[in-house]
Parts: sequence; C-alpha cells; structure tokens
Amino acid sequence: MITLHDISEPIEQNLQEFTVYLDELLSSDLDLVNSIVNYQSGTKGKQIRPMLVLLSALLFENINIKTYKAAGMVELCHTATLMHDDVIDEADIRRGVNTINNVWNNKLAILIGDYYFAKAFIKPIQYNNIEFLQVLINSIKHIIDGELLQIQKSTEIDLTENTYYKIINDKTASLISSSCKLGAISAGAEKSDCEKLEEFGYNIGMAFQIRDDILDYIGDFKITGKKPGNDLKEKKLTLPLIYALKQIDEKQANNYLALIKGDNLQTQDIKEIIDFVLKMGGIDYAQNKANDFIEKAIQLMNNFKDSPAKTSLTNFAYFIVDRQK
Ligand code: IPE
Ligand code: IPE
Ligand code: MG
Ligand code: MG
Repeated sequence: MITLHDISEPIEQNLQEFTVYLDELLSSDLDLVNSIVNYQSGTKGKQIRPMLVLLSALLFENINIKTYKAAGMVELCHTATLMHDDVIDEADIRRGVNTINNVWNNKLAILIGDYYFAKAFIKPIQYNNIEFLQVLINSIKHIIDGELLQIQKSTEIDLTENTYYKIINDKTASLISSSCKLGAISAGAEKSDCEKLEEFGYNIGMAFQIRDDILDYIGDFKITGKKPGNDLKEKKLTLPLIYALKQIDEKQANNYLALIKGDNLQTQDIKEIIDFVLKMGGIDYAQNKANDFIEKAIQLMNNFKDSPAKTSLTNFAYFIVDRQK
C-alpha cells in the first residue's frame, strides 16, 4: 500500500520549507485572526496540492522560489474554499476536528476564508506574475461554478452522469490540474509539457473526487475525519447513487429521489440508501470510473523519463484511487 509519506519522500525538505513560508504569509496583526489561523494550521490536511506543485517542478529538476509561491497559492485557495464549503454544507467536522463555522461561527468562517483568498493573491501580485494569476483565477472561477451548479442540482430531481462529471471537474479537478500545471510552469518547462501536467492533474483530480464521493458512502470517520452520509444529507447525488438508481425501474428510483430530496430524511433512511447503493454495485462502478481516469494519468506520466519525481507522481495516481483518507 502506497502512502503519502512514501510519495513525498523526494520533497520532504521542500515541504518543511513550504510550511514555514505559509505560516509566515498567514500571520496577522489581529489576535482574532491569528487564533483562527493557528487553529486551522494545526489541522494541516493532506497537503496534496502543494505536494503536486513541488513534484511537478521536480519532474523538470527545478524547484525554486516560484514553485513555493505557486504551492502557497493553491493551498491557500484550497483552504479558503474548504472554509466556505463547510458553511455551505453546514459541516461541523473536518480533518477530525470541529470546523471554524462550528467552533466560531459562519461570519468568521466566511471572513477568514476571504482572508486566505486575499493572501493567495498577494505574492503573485507583488511579483507581477500574471501567468500564475490567470491560472489561479481560472480555477477559482471553476470552483465557484461547480459549487453553484451543485446547489442548483440539489434542488432538482435528477442528475445525469455527465452533469456529475462537470461538477467534479469544476469543483475539484480544476485546482488539482492547476497545481500540476503551475509546478511545471514554475520550473520553466516547455508549453507542451506544462499541458501534459495539466492533463495529468485533471485525470487524478477527477479520480480524487470520485474516491471522495465513494468514501462518503463507505469511509471510516476515524480515518477520513469527515462524517460519512453528508452528501445525502445535503441532497447531493454522486456517482455511486446515480449508477444505482439507473439499475432499478423509474418508479422505484423516483421513490428514492423523493426521499432524498424531501425534508424528512432520517439516519435510518441514509443507512438504507447506503445499503441499496452497495447492493446495486454503485461503489464498484464508481471505483472503475476512478480507475479509468488514473490509467490515463499514468499513461501521461509515461511521456517522461524515469526519475524519483516521476515515480512519486505515478504512485500518487495509484494512491488516489485506493485512499482511505
Ligand atoms: C477535500 O480535499 C475537498 C475535496 C476536493 C474532496 P482534501 O481531501 O485534499 O482536503 P484536506 O486538505 O486533505 O483536508
Ligand atoms: C468540496 O466539495 C470541494 C470544494 C472544492 C469546495 P465537497 O463538499 O464534496 O467536499 P467535502 O466532502 O466537504 O470535503
Ligand atoms: Mg463539503
Ligand atoms: Mg462531500
């Protein structure tokens, strides 16, 4: 079993430097801000996006100051979107601890999220790095589109598999794809190579969110740090359920949909829906789709010569589809 620890081995030192860089960037004159930032920094998360930036730069043998800036930008944006997402999803737990909206309140979660967004832009603006800004703003636009489309769809009855892919591309794959691309750009890679990394990131990003949606059905809270069943509570249809509903007749499917979309979904109902999804092979179907994306990602990596960075990026792809966390 591949672990993130194995994957990050070639960039261990760089990740430590990155953490110092990020902590410095986030410090504020306000005690209130510092206490929330410290709370947040104490629950680091997996840091897969900065890892991807660093490994993508290392693939071209050139981790430099721009790489750290890019890594900072994407991790700050990611953290900002999570703070806002937990307000939107009314989530009280993430990374195994209470969310900011839960410990403090929604107002502060939104404002601190904004603070992280603003900090993400400061360095590229200071250094007049228009290309980084373009990539980042494009990703943020996608994330917002994805979250909005998801909200619109949660109020509608049906969701097609294609719309699901659009949502996960926007809300998740776009930033992961940008992380890989920015790493390559920071290293001065050729345009065609930057595009390969972007596509690699797209494929692992899609698989990452599919796996996340699978874990919402079968994940272990002690490992994921997130409560399973949250997507159903939020009336979100994800790939395992979309597939399961297609395996039964329309009337039965509509009964399930009415239950999920209604205002009276009980814990027992959630358990039954999870059992139904498992019985219909929804998890296996979603897992196979995630595997297809990963296969494409690995093929793309095969364009590059062997190196520790290539090994780590390839292992990253394998890690994503099996991850429990
Ligand atoms: C969570 O992302 C949000 C999704 C896109 C599924 P991560 O799983 O990377 O979150 P952390 O940073 O490790 O907590
Ligand atoms: C969060 O999406 C991803 C964002 C880009 C905001 P989800 O709502 O599906 O992820 P979790 O389960 O809260 O991490
Ligand atoms: Mg959420
Ligand atoms: Mg979720």
